[in-house]
Amino acid sequence: MIILGFESSCDETGVAIVDASGTGVPKLLAHALFSQIDMHQAYGGVVPELASRDHIQRVLPLTTQVLQDAGLVLNQVDLVAYTRGPGLAGALLVGAGVACAMAAALGKSVMGVHHLEGHLLSPFLSNDPPEFPFVALLVSGGHTQLMRVDRVGSYELLGESIDDAAGEAFDKSAKLMGLPYPGGPHLARLAEHGDSIAFKLPRPLLHSGNLDFSFAGLKTAVLTQAKKLGDQLDARKADLAASTQAAIVDVLVKKSMAAMTQTGLSRLVVAGGVGANALLRSELNAACAKRGVRVHYPELHLCTDNGAMIALAAGMRLQAGLETLQGGYTFDVLPRWGLAEISQK
Ligand code: KG4
Ligand code: ZN
Repeated sequence: MIILGFESSCDETGVAIVDASGTGVPKLLAHALFSQIDMHQAYGGVVPELASRDHIQRVLPLTTQVLQDAGLVLNQVDLVAYTRGPGLAGALLVGAGVACAMAAALGKSVMGVHHLEGHLLSPFLSNDPPEFPFVALLVSGGHTQLMRVDRVGSYELLGESIDDAAGEAFDKSAKLMGLPYPGGPHLARLAEHGDSIAFKLPRPLLHSGNLDFSFAGLKTAVLTQAKKLGDQLDARKADLAASTQAAIVDVLVKKSMAAMTQTGLSRLVVAGGVGANALLRSELNAACAKRGVRVHYPELHLCTDNGAMIALAAGMRLQAGLETLQGGYTFDVLPRWGLAEISQK
């Protein structure tokens, strides 16, 4: 079962091929990625129309490349998977349209995949794959969620951000400090040279007694600090970055540990772009080691958006009997689509 996967929900065009024959975890044969970051940087954020147009230009050359890398020809593909949502409507339509047209031309099957399910399952492609059940901490640019995952297709939401996502908190704070888009990795790099206790920043909802998050107040606190610093901002930027990162990481780690206690589970899976953050990884590693919790991450290059996780999720859903191979090439995309909507009890 050869699966070709397309990811085009935001500012990365990802194409990948997995082999999902048998019952083992699908094997990644090849993957290629084009990041539009340089193009959007001039605007300080993603410009949806530019994103769609660029996906159109990248998707077929990337497909040729992964087929070549995998030593396959298009006709050997059994299933074409694409990100159906959530994401930018126009960007999603590119992947969906290309996937369905390609599958129709080949007379092969097609499957729309939930982007967050892709992120959530991406650690299965690592050298240290998790086992079910586990708690998932999903931290991307648009989502911050804690979930209980009992098996493929079973996603119980334990808590989520009531306003900004963790990635957004990184990006917006970075923007306030004059760092380029997307701010997360830039802020993290700057923070390496800063003092994380230099500024006292709020840890919203830390003691709320539930597993929800809130990051909007943090962004406001960073803005207030930046204004207060005025001319001094440049000199203290690394300290402010380090303090901001520490606040975000502190909340993510404490809430994740609370989720482990609440569920009584002993495995934690971290997924999504912010999962690449080095401080988050080291703090989670330490907290989990203390509690005897095993923690799993995607390979660093599969933390942010990519096609591999989409092909993987399609394969794992097929293997779990949640989907059947089908033609039928009409498609829609779901820009706003909660993972709970596809969850099975
Ligand atoms: O999962 P992702 O690639 O896209 C979405 O589905 O949203 O996540 C992108 C987010 C951005 O907010 C980016 O700033 C953040 O992940 N990010 C990081 C790091 N690498 C990516 N945030 C903090 N530290 C990093 N090293
Ligand atoms: Zn994503």
